Amino acid sequence: MKTVILEREALYEQAAGQIAGILTEKPDAVIAMSAGRTMLPLWQKLRRLDLNAVRLFQVAEFIGTEEHLTMRAMTEKNLLEGSNLRPENCFWLTEENFQEYENAIADVGGLDLAVLGIGDNAHIGFNEPATQFDSRTHRQKLTEKTRKQYGWYFGTEESTPAWGLSMGIRTITEARKIMLLACGEEKAQAVFDMLYARNDSIIPAAFLQIPAEVTVYADREAGAKL
Ligand code: GLP
Repeated sequence: MKTVILEREALYEQAAGQIAGILTEKPDAVIAMSAGRTMLPLWQKLRRLDLNAVRLFQVAEFIGTEEHLTMRAMTEKNLLEGSNLRPENCFWLTEENFQEYENAIADVGGLDLAVLGIGDNAHIGFNEPATQFDSRTHRQKLTEKTRKQYGWYFGTEESTPAWGLSMGIRTITEARKIMLLACGEEKAQAVFDMLYARNDSIIPAAFLQIPAEVTVYADREAGAKL
């Protein structure tokens, strides 16, 4: 696991540069893409790239929220719009398609890259603490900490959905490359735990110590405890 600690703008430039490099080698790369605040500045930079052949798989989604508040809507509005990413190459999580979702990833040869954020409680996707390493795409009860984390998006913690959908930890860690971005002091403990916690299911992001090629991009605040 490689760790890069930079000022925020440089962090996003370098992360976007890594993705540009992957796309130069493989224009039709299969990318698992997280959503959330951390992704917004990255998406602004990715929109400048040629994403026409990219296959995109959503990493996490809320259950039971209004359409315009889904992570799909966030991704469509802030990444697809303004880029040449093709809607027919984008795969979205639903409560009915877990096995089809895993099959679709296998059918395109597996994930070339997983682009992750990290939850305040070190979740990845919506794999909350106590999610097993060998988990596949599944429904996930969201912790109070995660619902609090998303109060900004839904207005209040109470209006944040209680359940989500997530690509499993096993599925994520099978990606040939993984990059995780973390910004803000609220992520500092999760980033520290990810790097130094045991590979147990209480710190889901710690499972990223296992795969071969993981790069962590942290800004000064998120990397403050390292
Ligand atoms: C959310 C999402 C993750 C995201 C993480 C960080 O719960 N399910 O995919 O990476 O937590 O979110 P943010 O970037 O908004 O802090």
